Amino acid sequence: MLDSLKHQFSNLFGQESKNSFFAPGRVNLIGEHIDYNGGLVLPCAVTFGTYLLTAPNNDGVFRFRSTNFEETLDIPLQDSYQKTGKEWYNYPLGVIHNLLAQGVRLQGLDLLFYGDLPIGAGLSSSASVEVVTAFAFDQLFKGGISKLDLVKLTKKVENEFIGVNSGIMDQFAVTFGEAGKALKLNCETLDYEAVDCDLGDHYLAIINTNKPRKLAESKYNERVQECSTALGELQQNLNIANLCDIDSETFDKNKHLISDPIVLNRAKHVVEENERVILAAKALAENRLQDFGQLMYASHDSLKNLYEVSGVELDTIVEFCLNFPDVTGARMTGAGFGGCAIALVKKDSFETFSKEITEYYTEKIGYAPSVYSSEIGPGVIELPN
Ligand code: GLA
Repeated sequence: MLDSLKHQFSNLFGQESKNSFFAPGRVNLIGEHIDYNGGLVLPCAVTFGTYLLTAPNNDGVFRFRSTNFEETLDIPLQDSYQKTGKEWYNYPLGVIHNLLAQGVRLQGLDLLFYGDLPIGAGLSSSASVEVVTAFAFDQLFKGGISKLDLVKLTKKVENEFIGVNSGIMDQFAVTFGEAGKALKLNCETLDYEAVDCDLGDHYLAIINTNKPRKLAESKYNERVQECSTALGELQQNLNIANLCDIDSETFDKNKHLISDPIVLNRAKHVVEENERVILAAKALAENRLQDFGQLMYASHDSLKNLYEVSGVELDTIVEFCLNFPDVTGARMTGAGFGGCAIALVKKDSFETFSKEITEYYTEKIGYAPSVYSSEIGPGVIELPN
């Protein structure tokens, strides 16, 4: 893979690449729509992701190329940048903008990106591009920025440069992921614990709905707003900074403060999902996969009925999983509104699972899903050249 990319790099730029980097995508095992509510999430890095090959140039220009997209950008080194259109290169450009703002001194660079993550499918392809760029630039230009600050910087890119109010989970998982572990991350304090994720005789299956995600960004921002409304109303009685600062008992005693029944449902999901993460991390650490699987189903149910971010495509996948004997748990992962679901599938049955879910889904939805299995891999790294 890397050899073929190096070859393409030489063809494109007329010089050999000097450094190579990789950042994974992520799946969130449980704890959905929790990060921007200051609670606990349990993501892990997958083995698909974004490769970045670089070499300095003497022209004072950033040359962006991707094997996934036709659009290219050649842009001179400036003091700052603005988002232009909706093209893919805005992600690395936003990173460069923020590095400059932090005083990192940069020089011209030729850059080739290649991603093997399905794009816009809820596996954090954008965080993967942001993090691989930030990490690479920090290494190459000796920015001396800590990994945690790179996480914060790339989140800022997503929030301010790209304009999506997402939380910190994706960038964190893509940066700090560890092979074979899930990260139990407190999104308020950013303390985390790597939890052994021994799936035994199961694969982690990723099922992409292949649904075009048109409204995802605006609906996502709407949920963020609804949670903020719920928090504001609860704060009339409670001294809390985040929705996840209360347990379900306290929530039940105070829910009358929330006037809109839809907003009430959103908050109920958040409070209960946060509690599910605690139980799920414990179940995983104690190798109780059955219990973990049940929590996955409960999470999906809540995202479907209370948070309303699922949809017929994701529900069809989970419904199939519930009826397939060798699936131990399944749920949507990421923001929702399409994107991917995950399932714990017995290794011996994976092929049958893949075939049958494809048939079932295609018949109901009208087009096929994509089914993958992934190991849990490490976070961002520089690859040996
Ligand atoms: C997207 C966002 C994350 C998180 C999830 C939902 O992936 O980028 O910050 O909010 O949705 O859990």
